[in-house]
Amino acid sequence: RAAQQAQSLALSDALQRACDFYRAQLRQAPNAIAYLKGRGLTGEIAARFGMGYAPAGWTSLKSVFPDYEALALVESGLVIDHVDEDGGNKKRYDRFRERVMFPIRNAKGQVIGFGGRVMDGGEPKYLNSPETPLFSKGTELYGLWEARQAIRDAGYVLVTEGYMDVVALAQLGFPQAVATLGTACTSTHVQKLLRQTDMVIFSFDGDKAGRRAARRALEACLPHLSDDKTVKFLFLPQEHDPDSYVRAYGAEAFDQEIESAMPLSQFLLREVSGEHDLSTPEGRARIQFDAKPLLASMAPSSLRLQIVRGLASLTESTPAEIESLFDLSKPVAA
Ligand code: UTP
Ligand code: MN
Ligand code: MN
Ligand code: MN
Ligand code: MN
Repeated sequence: RAAQQAQSLALSDALQRACDFYRAQLRQAPNAIAYLKGRGLTGEIAARFGMGYAPAGWTSLKSVFPDYEALALVESGLVIDHVDEDGGNKKRYDRFRERVMFPIRNAKGQVIGFGGRVMDGGEPKYLNSPETPLFSKGTELYGLWEARQAIRDAGYVLVTEGYMDVVALAQLGFPQAVATLGTACTSTHVQKLLRQTDMVIFSFDGDKAGRRAARRALEACLPHLSDDKTVKFLFLPQEHDPDSYVRAYGAEAFDQEIESAMPLSQFLLREVSGEHDLSTPEGRARIQFDAKPLLASMAPSSLRLQIVRGLASLTESTPAEIESLFDLSKPVAA
């Protein structure tokens, strides 16, 4: 019956209304304000990112949507409809409760989803909007809309893993940061970034997951590189992410890290060298074996040639030998 009565409401309209509600709630939530202050954020930066607070209570959004039960709200990701196994009772409740809210915007600045962080040790630490007609994690980058002018001014974009990395970096003088949304950096992400700027600097967490993310980002970048684009990797100490690093060591130290970030070519050669033994033919062959799919995914370019030359000298071969072994003269699939 509720489904029959469902009234339509533009998704973006519903999300914007929820965003306004969460923002207003934050002003009345001393515990959430204290949490953000404890993480070094000012009210100004929270406002710049439209941050908010989803209060406790299962149906707080009733105050935003008076016909909460009847609206087609599920598609927005704001509510969840729980239906009993026998298909009987339907219970509708808010997805986000007792969480600090980060609105995620598209290129036009429209709210398309949210990430919500718990303030205690609850699980999951971050709850995100589900995939909706407006929101797809593999396509969107958190903070890109907010950072667009700063990226132009800086001449590069910093790509991090997390919401807090973006907001904390902006707070401490690096507003040119965006984040992938708890997924690997995709080919779509890379294309989006390279359309905005000539230099991308990946700055993932220093832990194992972050290093794995850097490897995935390398692979995602290779097909999209051209000689006017630069990609670098900033590796942080094991125990840090950009947020914790910049707080612990300050903006100048982070600036140094940016200055000395590792060029993609060097990272690629380091990756394929791995643990292999350069002193044996088998070890050198193994390095070439690992390098082949990476180089094969690159379009012909000066950069590819330079990497081939680096690989050649590492493995006691000539560039021509590598190009012929790897079939690099063949055109690559786009
Ligand atoms: P991290 O675990 O590194 O969290 O996850 P963080 O960003 O450093 O968060 P703080 O500093 O503890 O607040 C990195 C990103 O992965 C996604 C989020 O986008 C997060 O920012 N993630 C993580 C989730 O979506 N859900 C989770 O439960 C955890
Ligand atoms: Mn992490
Ligand atoms: Mn963190
Ligand atoms: Mn982190
Ligand atoms: Mn290897």
